[in-house]
Amino acid sequence: MNQTEQKIKDLTALLNRYAYEYYTLDAPNVPDAEYDRLFRELEALETAQPEYKQPDSPTQRIGGAALEGFTSVRHTVPMLSLNNAFSPQNEEGVFDHAEMYAFDERVRGGLNGAQAEYVIEPKFDGLAISLLYRDGMLVQAATRGDGATGEDVTQNVKTIANIPLRLHGDNVPQLIEVRGEVLMLKADFTALNQRQADQNQKTFANPRNAAAGSLRQLNSKITARRKLHFFAYSIAQQEGGFVSEQHIQELAYLSDLGFSLPNGQFGCFPNIGEVLGFYEQMQQKRPSLPYEIDGMVVKVNSLAQQKTLGFISRAPRWAIAHKFPAEEALTVVEAIDVQVGRTGAVTPVARLQPVFVGGVTVTNATLHNEGETQRKDVRIGDTVIVRRAGDVIPEVARVVFDRRPMQTPETIDETNTSFLDGLQEDLFALPSEKHQTTSQPLYPQYRLPEHCPICGSDIEREEGGAVARCSGGMLCRAQRVQGLIHFASRKAMDIDGLGQRQIEQLVAQELVRHFADLYRLDITTLQKMKENTDQAETQSGVEAMPSENTPVLSDGLTNGKKPLPTKWAQNILDGIEASKQPDLARFLFALGIRHVGERTAKSLAQAFGNLENIRHAPEPVLACLPDIGSVVAHSIAHFFAQAEQQNMIDELLAVGVAPQEQPVTLPLAQYVTPERWISRLPDFKISEKKAAALWDLAGKSVEGLTRDKALPADWQQWRSIEANLSLLTTMQQFLAHMPSETGTIAESHASSLFGKTFVLTGTLPTLKRDEAQAMIEAAGGKVSGSVSKKTDFVVAGEAPGSKLEKANALDVAVLNEAALLALLNS
Ligand code: IVH
Repeated sequence: MNQTEQKIKDLTALLNRYAYEYYTLDAPNVPDAEYDRLFRELEALETAQPEYKQPDSPTQRIGGAALEGFTSVRHTVPMLSLNNAFSPQNEEGVFDHAEMYAFDERVRGGLNGAQAEYVIEPKFDGLAISLLYRDGMLVQAATRGDGATGEDVTQNVKTIANIPLRLHGDNVPQLIEVRGEVLMLKADFTALNQRQADQNQKTFANPRNAAAGSLRQLNSKITARRKLHFFAYSIAQQEGGFVSEQHIQELAYLSDLGFSLPNGQFGCFPNIGEVLGFYEQMQQKRPSLPYEIDGMVVKVNSLAQQKTLGFISRAPRWAIAHKFPAEEALTVVEAIDVQVGRTGAVTPVARLQPVFVGGVTVTNATLHNEGETQRKDVRIGDTVIVRRAGDVIPEVARVVFDRRPMQTPETIDETNTSFLDGLQEDLFALPSEKHQTTSQPLYPQYRLPEHCPICGSDIEREEGGAVARCSGGMLCRAQRVQGLIHFASRKAMDIDGLGQRQIEQLVAQELVRHFADLYRLDITTLQKMKENTDQAETQSGVEAMPSENTPVLSDGLTNGKKPLPTKWAQNILDGIEASKQPDLARFLFALGIRHVGERTAKSLAQAFGNLENIRHAPEPVLACLPDIGSVVAHSIAHFFAQAEQQNMIDELLAVGVAPQEQPVTLPLAQYVTPERWISRLPDFKISEKKAAALWDLAGKSVEGLTRDKALPADWQQWRSIEANLSLLTTMQQFLAHMPSETGTIAESHASSLFGKTFVLTGTLPTLKRDEAQAMIEAAGGKVSGSVSKKTDFVVAGEAPGSKLEKANALDVAVLNEAALLALLNS
């Protein structure tokens, strides 16, 4: 064998092993980048010497030439179906397993009363496939078709990463036909639909359809991109290799040959009672599984017993599909309400006639937003299909249009013209072909209310955005509660003891309206609140919180007349007191400014150093900062432009909250150069180059920009708008007072890491990710989420992702934890 041939064989075997470790064992041993490097090497060798390409070459996984059509394959062993059994649940969730007991009876009857052991495994919701291996190599893959004849999808199946192209181990049969299910994992399905939607392509109704559509592609390159997954569940025929006597041994053998099994989701049990216990557990686990299943399959374990039992019509007597209750159910929309979140986002929610779906009673389902509600055309009175998918929030999947309540002569009220207006407009707004009705729907198309149902403020729609918001801000109780919860949360002011429940009570009893009120709480108020709550809860039959009777220090102002302060209240007060000197970044994050997450808050703090500078920074200045784009800059400036927000901050300062000043990492003047801020003026988007020219033309002064008559017409036009002119004045003032070159610069400026960008990937041996980040930032570096040419270092730990690949591709320096620590200490 010559060297190239040997090299191709070795690389093929090695890459197949890595893929197996990654996709089947879920335990990768090399970084993705290493796999890719070897893959490219193999590809190059194969192109140069195609005669040495191996039949199990992993390069087939990326798909080949498109087919004209699929050829048919006759199944030597027909692909049959399964009979179904259901276990309905009553109101209390108790199962009625009568159909399964009847199955067990039939089995034992067929075995002359002998006891049968059962294997129970998931009933995958995908499509059945048959894989034929000769001498260990995958030679044919076929769909089920009508059970007798299917389609040859070999090219496509070869792209499925966890299907072995060559069988593993030293007990490989001469021939084996493996049956199993091809499916799409829920996460891959969500990502696929997202991509499809982004590209204005059709989306798939569920992972099963997506899997079917992907497997039946004539172009296998498309299949390869779709990320399908395979689970083996039986052996249809076999010559040579291990001789199984039990189904469970077949499964173990399939696993040895390199197939994926649904680990942890199948088992062998001595009797039907234990099978049913496992079924009930699996029904609970169903929503959290990474793939969809619609029940469990129960199979007689002994192959000899299977043979005795045989088949009746087209289904085995030795197996049954024990279905789960549908995760979709029909119910009626009684009303459509809205919910208001922390940022004021207003979400329509369908109030439903209670319905049992996938093991829980559902009374509300999200409609996501107004556009989505109109697209699905959900109206009051509609019969809808409610879906409870993998996640916990149930949603309305679709409307059953032929059950929509329609107007009858009695329901048309001639005098109620506004109602009719709505209906008229509706007809123009949404010409729907979906519902073939002759008359008018009884209820109009859904519209979000104009005013917030909680506080009455206007609801504003964002341009282009699907989101509508209550404009009430902290005037709105719903937003207040959410805002306070955020303010007190761990990553914000980190107020110990003050959780959602306490905040809801404080707001409900009007003891706290705004952030500063938290710092005015005293022990008496807190106690009163607790008493009121306990009382209300006792009256309403809810058990009161266990009260603590440990007496703590009196507050000294009460002359001993008031009830004993409790430890509970004191803990909260201690938590509040301890939060009074937050880092500037935490404080900014706590304010709940839209688009200001932890990262942006940190950038602001590092650039400005103190709250005073930030709260008076004009929008173009904010937009000059690294990592802050125009939307974020606008949001920050808009927040601080509101008198109520400024008052709120003043109040916080007045009650003793003192955000800590910090050294700035770079003098602001280095970010806020004339060409940068001019190119970032709202509604006047020009390049920095043009901005620089304009600046020169204006004699390098804001004064000139404001008054000079010889400037270009578009500039004169822009500044003729009152708000723009006043923005220039603000800029002038800000620039005049901008902290100058030196003085506040962080010591870390001197450090060699100053301004260097790091990206972290994988798990580091000792440091947690946020610890590593904090150390890098303390040394003046920045941590970014993605690798680009500007990245200085990638710090890679165990199981790094594509970031490491990218670093290698871009020649970015890669450090391990030890190297990082050395660098930080240098
Ligand atoms: S065994 C003789 N096991 O269910 C029938 N089938 O109704 C052997 N299915 O088309 C089938 N999960 O696609 C078996 N663990 C499982 C299964 C399973 C899903 C599907 C299969 C088949 C259908 C039969």
